[in-house]
Amino acid sequence: MAAVPEKLVIGFDLGGTNMAAGLVDARLEVLESLEMETPTASQEELLSAIVSMVRDVSSRAPSPVSAVGFGIPSMIDQQHGRAVMSVNVPLADCDFVDYMRSELGMPVFIDNDANVAALAEARAGAALGASEVIMITMGTGIGGGIIIDGRVYRGFTGSAAELGHMVIDANGPRCQGSCENYGCFETMASGTALKRYAREEALSQPKSALAQALASGEDPDGALLTSLALEGDPASLAVYEKIGFYTGVGITSLVNIFNPEVFVVGGGLIKAGELILGPARKLLMERGLRPNRDLVRVVPAKFGADAGMLGAACLALDELAATVQ
Ligand code: BGC
Repeated sequence: MAAVPEKLVIGFDLGGTNMAAGLVDARLEVLESLEMETPTASQEELLSAIVSMVRDVSSRAPSPVSAVGFGIPSMIDQQHGRAVMSVNVPLADCDFVDYMRSELGMPVFIDNDANVAALAEARAGAALGASEVIMITMGTGIGGGIIIDGRVYRGFTGSAAELGHMVIDANGPRCQGSCENYGCFETMASGTALKRYAREEALSQPKSALAQALASGEDPDGALLTSLALEGDPASLAVYEKIGFYTGVGITSLVNIFNPEVFVVGGGLIKAGELILGPARKLLMERGLRPNRDLVRVVPAKFGADAGMLGAACLALDELAATVQ
């Protein structure tokens, strides 16, 4: 008798800077994947690039793809499958599920990008075995996922857990993209904030390696800052002190509120590891409330930048299983 082919799904992670699609099996093994820069000129261009990527990955599958799960950086109306608005990508008032279903001709499921990242980390990653988990993803923005009693908490309509838009400094700088607020967590500790601090620090330490790198046209991104910080450049270390400090401020409030067992920190920026987690944990221990601060484990994401894609695949697999029952 021929072996029954294993269920294959596509997990799609839409980020503010990059997007990735992966062909994933039921054991969360990635068989194929593609990545490209997120087109941000218009919603139309973005949607058609997403469709092409999914078709491309799907065409490489050894057996039919059963569904696509999307993690999108948006406020979601789950009942209508809509992306209501998004801070860092051009996606608003969009009937995302209907559109993708008709373009792709297969079942489509959506959730927020950080919600699905948290799902992957809780299911098989850094928070495996824990039922109370908070995750933040630090990239272009800061995303948040809350797992309560082993399940993703989505709020009333599907737009909960916008942890990146928790205010850290009410008199701070204006938030980015379409967020009208000031001093949001993502304004103070994201990859965008890192670039701002790097430029400020280069101006105040003009002889530093960081200032020289920026003067020669390098982009002040996480990769540059991490390599300079690890070489001991004081300006780059000061940038990470600041990012780590504000990350700690955010983590402390969330640990006080939710009493999680595990707090996972993911997204591109966490490649800097202890440069961020060191100062963040220190702040938590100095300012957090007992017993929450003593009990929580603050850990880097296991799946790194793949957490969103794997989580989107988990979402599709879970939803398929739920519809079969
Ligand atoms: C968005 C979130 C998203 C996060 C990371 C934030 O600006 O509001 O929905 O999860 O960026 O992409």
